[in-house]
Amino acid sequence: MEITLSGMWMAILVGIVPLIGWAMWWWNYFRYALPVTFRCSGDGTKLPLGHMGIPFYGEMLHFLWYFKFVNRPDDYINHKRNKYGGGEGLYKTHLFGSPSIIACSPSANKFILQSEDKFSTGWPAAEIIGRNSILSLQGSSHARIRSLTVKTINQPDTLRRIAIMVQPRIIAALQQWSKQGRVVAFHEAKKVTFENIGKYFCGFEPGPHLDTLDELFAGMIKGVRSQPLNIPGTSYHYALQCRKKVMAIFTKEINKRRVEGDAARAEYDLLDQLLHLKDEEGMELQDGEVLDNIVGLIIAGYESTSLSIMWALYYLAKFPNVLEKLREEHMIVTRNGDFITRDDILKLQYTNKVVEETIRLANVSAFVFRKAKRDVEFKGYKIPKGWKVICWLRYLHTDPKNFEDPLCFNPDRWNGPPKPGTFLAFGGGPRICPGNMLARLQVAIFIHHLVIGYRWELVNNNAGMTYLPHPRPVDGVEINISRM
Ligand code: HEM
Repeated sequence: MEITLSGMWMAILVGIVPLIGWAMWWWNYFRYALPVTFRCSGDGTKLPLGHMGIPFYGEMLHFLWYFKFVNRPDDYINHKRNKYGGGEGLYKTHLFGSPSIIACSPSANKFILQSEDKFSTGWPAAEIIGRNSILSLQGSSHARIRSLTVKTINQPDTLRRIAIMVQPRIIAALQQWSKQGRVVAFHEAKKVTFENIGKYFCGFEPGPHLDTLDELFAGMIKGVRSQPLNIPGTSYHYALQCRKKVMAIFTKEINKRRVEGDAARAEYDLLDQLLHLKDEEGMELQDGEVLDNIVGLIIAGYESTSLSIMWALYYLAKFPNVLEKLREEHMIVTRNGDFITRDDILKLQYTNKVVEETIRLANVSAFVFRKAKRDVEFKGYKIPKGWKVICWLRYLHTDPKNFEDPLCFNPDRWNGPPKPGTFLAFGGGPRICPGNMLARLQVAIFIHHLVIGYRWELVNNNAGMTYLPHPRPVDGVEINISRM
């Protein structure tokens, strides 16, 4: 029988293409999920429902569809919930290059974040953050760096000192903004936050050197949540290039400090503390450890704080009634020319609610990563050894089951505590953010100087949103700002 060319194409179309499509659709399932399913049959557990996506990319395209193209990030989880049901808030998938379990209920997140014996941190971008950084370290080495970090940035005395230290730059920045008249709050908030971090972490003063570092850190942060693909043109590759340059700058700084000695500097900063940290045997950190940790801390604290400040500006412009109440509260604590203190801020009840609500809705840490050290069981579901676990913190804050009318900015919802486990903007368990009080403090200080001295409005009241690498209005919150 003679096979015609068109017949052959038809056969390919009807037979082979769907077959390839089918194989692509199930490839990851056969590769990752099926072996676990066999393992589960012996112990009565099962893998959470969900789809493992296509080879290599997994569900990345699906994820990007919701986060980047249709801009409805919560529908990524809503879609799973509608398709597969609640499933104790666990779904299987393949994201950021690994087979993964998504956790999006309060109980699943609490369990995962508190079980350090079962899960290690599993940031997909450890190469960018640094393998010796507090963010990547485990066990006793993590505990050692963590205790120093907490002492340096999260104790009342330190916070009191930092509260005063950051204010000159915040005041100067606001004056400069009002002189310019129109600014993009995201860029400006980043600048002032980076200047402050540069000062109290490493004693760096504003100038071209700090501007270069700022750009390099921005490049690194972009790569942290991208597909870990180290080929030219990708965000990941660019982030690694930036990291190399950042390392060179800090290595030079460390060498300079070693030559000059401590007496050469007026203030003892975080970098000095890291350089002098000793373990139980009296051994100092290696330079590589110091470098990874200073870089890790800046990555963790920089964009998160600036984005929260940007969102505060945004919400206060959108909700004049909230702004008015804030002003009333702040006018009472304003003392001519003096800085506001941390103790003043602790007393500002409404401000603290505004800060909490801003951070809840800003969702700057939309998710955090863990990796199962061994097969783990949670309420009859298996979390397989070696798989990533993605604690989907964002969904906790935007799920109507947890917060009434969740997307509405309503500081009064903080009149009482949230339902247990529903507010995890700073994570939870032994790795809860050590910068949480510092971040809250900086947002509150910023709000103080803003509301007592300035009026501002959004240039684009209906600007669209973008959600990657972090949620923010596409115009970066462009504002017209002037002195009151
Ligand atoms: C609004 C601002 C901030 C948010 C929403 C935030 C959020 C988070 C979250 C969710 C975690 C947990 C990560 C995990 O469990 O794997 C975390 C950890 C961390 N954060 Fe923050 N953070 C903020 C500001 C800061 C600041 C200002 C600093 C320091 C200057 C900081 C330093 C850190 C560090 C070092 C860790 C790692 C802790 C560990 O692994 O033990 N963060 N942050």
